[in-house]
Amino acid sequence: MSEQLFVNKHASRKEKYQTLIPQLKALLDNESDTIANMANTVAALKQTFNFYWVGFYIVKRNELVVGPFQGTIACSRISWGKGVCGTAWKEKRTVIVPNVNLFAEHIACDSASLSEIVVPIFYKNEVIAVLDIDSQYEKYFDETDAEFLGLIADIIKNKL
Ligand code: SME
Repeated sequence: MSEQLFVNKHASRKEKYQTLIPQLKALLDNESDTIANMANTVAALKQTFNFYWVGFYIVKRNELVVGPFQGTIACSRISWGKGVCGTAWKEKRTVIVPNVNLFAEHIACDSASLSEIVVPIFYKNEVIAVLDIDSQYEKYFDETDAEFLGLIADIIKNKL
């Protein structure tokens, strides 16, 4: 296992993802525990991008329950269809919210968050968790994030 993460602080966001993904695969390669892999994934994302909040919510019964994360304290539980996370779960798709104040369903765990992306993780066509990332800046996430975070969600999924 590689225990050091290489981050080129001067690279573009796309280049950072391209550098991160093989390292993340190597990091998770020999570990089968999902919580351990989620914890190292959020740490690697935080270390690479310094996102304001990055973490997983895990489907338990009929709710999302907060899992490994890095950032300020968060809402523990989110219902199906509620918030950006519950919407991504219900609609089984990645949701990008450029301005959370204009998204009626948004749940404000922290008023400093201004934009958000939520990527679902599937197992046998059902959402079993979501990867949630918040930024203090408006319009911070785009299709590049959706594409590469989708690949990261697949790394977690392929370990299940
Ligand atoms: N804003 C999220 C709730 C989780 S926090 O961002 C950590 C939502 O609307 O689902």
